[in-house]
This record gives sequence, C-alpha cells and structure tokens, in this order.
Amino acid sequence: MGDFDLVVVANRLPVERLTAGTTTTWGISPGGLVSALSPVLESRNAVWIGWPGEVGEVGASFPVNWEGIALKPVLLSEDERDEFYLGFANATLWPLYHDAIRSPTFDRTWWHAYVDVNARFAKTAAETAAFGAIVWVHDYQLQLVPKMLRDLRPDLRIGFFLHIPFPPRELFMQLPWRREIVEGLLGADLVGFQVPGAASNFSRLARHLVGLRGTDSLVDLAGRQVRVGAFPISVDTGRLMERARDPAVQTRALQIRSDLGDPEAVLLGVDRLDYTKGIDHRIMAVKELFADGTLSAGRHVMVQMAVPSREEDPHYQREREHLEQLVSEVNGEFADVGHPAIHYLYQSVSFDELISLYLAADVMLVTPLRDGMNLVAKEYVMSRIDATGCLVLSEFAGAASELRGSLLINPYDLDATKNAIRHALEMDKTEERARMRRLRRIVRRHDVHRWASSFLVALDEQTASETPEGGQRH
Ligand code: F6P
Repeated sequence: MGDFDLVVVANRLPVERLTAGTTTTWGISPGGLVSALSPVLESRNAVWIGWPGEVGEVGASFPVNWEGIALKPVLLSEDERDEFYLGFANATLWPLYHDAIRSPTFDRTWWHAYVDVNARFAKTAAETAAFGAIVWVHDYQLQLVPKMLRDLRPDLRIGFFLHIPFPPRELFMQLPWRREIVEGLLGADLVGFQVPGAASNFSRLARHLVGLRGTDSLVDLAGRQVRVGAFPISVDTGRLMERARDPAVQTRALQIRSDLGDPEAVLLGVDRLDYTKGIDHRIMAVKELFADGTLSAGRHVMVQMAVPSREEDPHYQREREHLEQLVSEVNGEFADVGHPAIHYLYQSVSFDELISLYLAADVMLVTPLRDGMNLVAKEYVMSRIDATGCLVLSEFAGAASELRGSLLINPYDLDATKNAIRHALEMDKTEERARMRRLRRIVRRHDVHRWASSFLVALDEQTASETPEGGQRH
C-alpha cells in the first residue's frame, strides 16, 4: 500500500524523453490527457503511473515529479513493446474498436503480453494507492487493470474511461478474449465512454456475455453495482482562447496566409497520421473539387498536417506511403508554379503554431472514418474567437453528437463531402457566425475541466453509498 489519494493509470506518462545531441531532457508527451487532468491532480495528493514510451530503464534523468504530479514509470521490454503496445493494443484492439477499418490480428502471444503488462500496471497501482484512494484507469491498453486491481486492493474506488470508440456487439464478439476484457472492465465502480452509444454497447455485452442483470447505466454484479455512462471529453477552452488572442499567434496566422499566397480560402486538416482519420477520403474529395473547377490553385489551398504516429507499424507505414502518393498526384495534376493545391506536412507542431493554423483556416476538415471524440474539431471551434470559420465534421466522430452546428458528413460519401465543402465555401457570413457561435457555446459549457470533475463526482457518488465500515469492497 502507498500513500497517494488519487492515482492516474494510463499507458503513457505525461512526459517523454527529448534528446538533442548528447543532452537528454524530459518534456510533455503527446496527447492531451495531461492538460485535461492537471487541474484535478495538482490540487490533490496525486500520482501518475504510465509507460515512458521507450524500452528498458529510464535512467537517472527521469523526473519523479512533473508540475506537482508525482510520476511512476512502468517499464516495458522490447518484446513487450512489440507484443503488448504495437501488437495487442494497436494491431488487435485499435482496429477492432474502430469498425475493423483494418483487419484486427488475433495472436495468442500478444494476448499473453497484454495480460502480463496489465498485471504490472495493476500491481504498481496497488503499491502506490493509499487506503480507500481513487484510481482512475485510462483507455484500451489497460482494460484488464480494473479487475486485477480490485482483486489486489478491494478497498480502492476504481474508475475506468475509454478514450476510443467501443464497438457494437457484432464486432466485439470476434475477439477470442472478449469475456476477459468485459470482466476486466467490470472490476471498476464506474466505466465511462465518450458517447451514450458506446456505453450501451458495453452494458449490453456485459449482460449478454457475463449473464448479468442491469440496465444501460447500471450493471449488477452479484451485490456490487457498476455504473456505466457517457462522459464526452473536451478541450481546455480557457487556454485555447488565451493563445488565440495572443498577438504573436495572430500575426503568425496572417503570415501563414501570406506564405500560402493570400488565397480566397484555406482548407485545413490536422490529424495524427492514422488510417482511422479518413485523410485519404478527404483528399479524394478535394481532388475532385479541383477537377471540377470548384477549387483552383492560387485561389484555394489545402493544408494537411499529418503528425507522425506509431511509425513502427506496417499499417501506418503503408498509410503514409498511400497519402504521400495521393498528395503528389493532386499536386501533379492541379498545382500551378508557386501554388500547390495541397501543402502536406508530416511533422508535429507546437501548440502556438497549431492555433495559428486554426486561425488561418477558413474551412476545417475533420473527417475520420471512426473516432472516439476528435479534439481537433473542438480545438478549432475554440480558437475561432471572432466566430468565423466552418467546420466540416464526420458523423462518425464522437464530437458529432455534440457539435450539431457543424456541416456533418458521411466521410465514405464523396459527394456529400464535396457538397459540404462547397457549402462551407459559399456560406454567407451570417450563417457562418450563427453556426460558429452555437458550436462555441457548446464546447465552452463542456470543457475539459468539467469532463474530469464530472467523472470524479460520478465515481464519488457511485462509491459513497458502498463504502462499508471496515473499508473493504467486494
Ligand atoms: O486516442 C487514443 C490514444 O491512445 C491517445 O491517448 C494518444 O494520444 C493517441 O492515441 C496516440 O497514441 P500512442 O500512445 O500510441 O502514440
């Protein structure tokens, strides 16, 4: 037993090693979870347990504390990185949970690595948490942790949040270890999802596979109740607006437009380079709009920012080659000298540069084939402080259930995507502002701090009624 009152367990730590020549420092790692959780963690006696993103020991430079949050690394060997992270998490669960856009691979060796690594996370959490502490477990890499942890420490209050979609029963049933995963999650007191549909997919599976009684929001496990619900994640609206108001960020946005040749309209895509993001479908739609004359180089330009991700995975390598081929075809056919049709950047950008890009873009294209939430859509909306700009959004992103004022499309339907882009380009300013104001109101009301606190309040409520005198939970 440890002495931390709040324990966050996530596959990645909020820090990663940054190497410049022979110098090693540690900086904030990719993903927005740390900014989401910092406010709730800083005010409590909290620790974050996670993988540092590299194999083997972390060495003496590892920071034991990051901005007031204690850090505890869980180490992976090279085989575990391959079998647990690249294998079971990202080549079995990731595609299966994203509509099987790529065929999931079912490999028993990977499954054993998943069990072993989840057990290591659970053991570390058990050693770190104080009596009766809250443990908040995150995401698809760690679905066995809730049950493993409850077996070790029945006194803990355990919450689990899934950041990615949870598939419908027909797909989930393909998984050879489906029952173990559902039972793993049911170890939590509260299981949270991005959208209500995912929550009910899970509750139905729990009833069907484990034979439990209950409703879509409460599952009964022989005397112990597990609450299930939707907690749509969001962005740090205050920080986004503050950066968007910064004169240097605004000047940079003007500079970007000028570097792009001051076109009539800038279309923007910002994604991790991932086959779930629908980048190729989006580029095909843009290509056809160049072909039919709706768009023309010099007057219009698309900027596609593709952030490198999971580069060791052959699916991601193939996706990169495919996109780069597609972009060069579009530019080959439709660019003018000095005026590309598409600017493609395969790199990460700083937060300020990202906000400048959002400010420079008239039309934001967020067209994933399936996405748990998609925070780019919400970031764009909150960066548009003058309430201009149009958001074209896939109905298969979790964000679509909240952002009804966007131009919603089925990304598989090229004509619908083209029509939405046309609509965005032709939209009068009154409609544009009305839509953007509506979107901004929604995101501002449900920002990331509210997401974190509503999850923790729900966990408190769920467990308050159940804490027995001796502190043991069953
Ligand atoms: O969206 C799920 C997620 O795991 C995020 O938490 C993370 O930022 C992103 O995918 C990239 O994941 P990885 O840790 O594999 O780089």
